[in-house]
Amino acid sequence: MIVTSVTVRVPAKINLRLAVGPLRPDGYHGLVTVFHAVSLFDDVTVAPAETDGVTVSGEGAGLVPENGDNLALRAVRALREALAERAGATGAGEVADAPGGVGVAVTISKRIPVAGGMAGGSADAAAALVACNELWGTGLSQRELCEVAATVGSDVAFAVLGETAVGRGRGELLTPVRAPAGTTYHWVLALADGHLSTPRVFHALDRQRQGQKVADPELSAELIQALKEGDPVKLGAALTNDLQEPALALFPALRKTLDAGIEAGALGALVSGSGPTCFFLAASANDATTLANALSSAGVSRAVRPATGPAAGARVI
Ligand code: C5P
Repeated sequence: MIVTSVTVRVPAKINLRLAVGPLRPDGYHGLVTVFHAVSLFDDVTVAPAETDGVTVSGEGAGLVPENGDNLALRAVRALREALAERAGATGAGEVADAPGGVGVAVTISKRIPVAGGMAGGSADAAAALVACNELWGTGLSQRELCEVAATVGSDVAFAVLGETAVGRGRGELLTPVRAPAGTTYHWVLALADGHLSTPRVFHALDRQRQGQKVADPELSAELIQALKEGDPVKLGAALTNDLQEPALALFPALRKTLDAGIEAGALGALVSGSGPTCFFLAASANDATTLANALSSAGVSRAVRPATGPAAGARVI
């Protein structure tokens, strides 16, 4: 059967913990983070084409490059290179014979906010990897796809994996965190009227820490215990993010957003990754609806979205 196109659905992430260590010589920061995939998805379709191209529609589409800089196209190129290397290593033909020899038309339908601290671009890259692996019939395992993903960006491997996972290194070294069967958390996402650049937020953190000795980042026993028990009250109390202070310094209005959610009874409230999206934990689906309504009427964000987690990683649909 000739496959004419493949569509992959991929989740956004929030960070339940983001502990940031000192700046490394390579310009990245060592991290210990706990990624959690939530039910806010982009859909990415790939189809054979003469040359590579990308079109983007939906949430924030105007801010996403429709050229070779697009993370999804970078992921396509990274996969081609990885496949060519493998073909070379096994002597299985020339690079031109690699399954990715033809171009790919990528179509991205966005719901994940752009530059929102939810790894939307990384999600699109992960989806492109999973989609091309299917389109080309290359049969890489999830672990092999994660290895290619790590070369594209720090958060891309997690979007392939999904669910909940501890991230170390730049965030690309992943260890899944198992939850009791059937655990579902009810989140409310507050999408901000604005954007934050991830490198700027890391730089702001470095400036705030100037002259201080920065300890190596650590995992939190309280957070892991809460996740193992599937206890939303303990989870709400254990949420932390070292990038929250620098994000608030660059985007002071977020403080009102966080306060409004806590006032409305959220079990926990945090800036997601480098922001400016904020997320809130509710005890139940009903509480999440109440919280979402309260946040909407407080007028402290551009849009409010309920979401559940953990969500599956990038999947062919
Ligand atoms: O890996 P990615 O392209 O997503 O990272 C974007 C930027 O975020 C990096 O260039 C770096 O400035 C910053 N970053 C960092 N430490 C990390 C991850 C990202 O400083 N662990």
